[in-house]
Amino acid sequence: MKRITILTAFIIAMFAVNTFAQTVVKKTTSKTTVVKKTTSSSTKVSAVALEQGKQLLSKNDCLSCHKMDVKIVGPAYKDVAKKYPATAANYELLTQKVIAGGSGNWGDVPMSAHPSVPPADVKKMVQYILSIK
Ligand code: HEC
Repeated sequence: MKRITILTAFIIAMFAVNTFAQTVVKKTTSKTTVVKKTTSSSTKVSAVALEQGKQLLSKNDCLSCHKMDVKIVGPAYKDVAKKYPATAANYELLTQKVIAGGSGNWGDVPMSAHPSVPPADVKKMVQYILSIK
């Protein structure tokens, strides 16, 4: 009987340690996320984010109107990159423009609005576009 009590106490103790460890891990993970967010809002964009931006362009309808180096319906992304330096302000500006759609900057043909594409995705695409040299 005594042994069972000791065993139960041991199991409870292990459980407590485990829960505590998980809490610590969770705290550490959320801290990492905060650090990552700070990095992405600066002008340095990680290679991973750029690659994601590149893939998002083909997942969405962007490439039916845009090519990298030739103007089709919309301006070539290379020309967009030439016009707008890769700054945090331009990332925000163009993200808003892609979501809202618009015309008058490159000609009379308007760009369709993209209200259903998540802003974070649009931002990655914009960051990729402005990284093209
Ligand atoms: C229906 C065709 C079409 C589609 C689809 C399209 N665009 Fe455009 N895009 C245009 C046109 C046309 C312009 C030029 C608008 C202007 O003159 O202001 C443009 C302009 C832009 C600009 C420059 C905006 C500026 O104000 O200088 C960016 C950046 C851009 N598009 C990104 C995207 C992204 C990212 C997608 C996909 C989510 C996309 N486009 C989908 C036609 C399109």
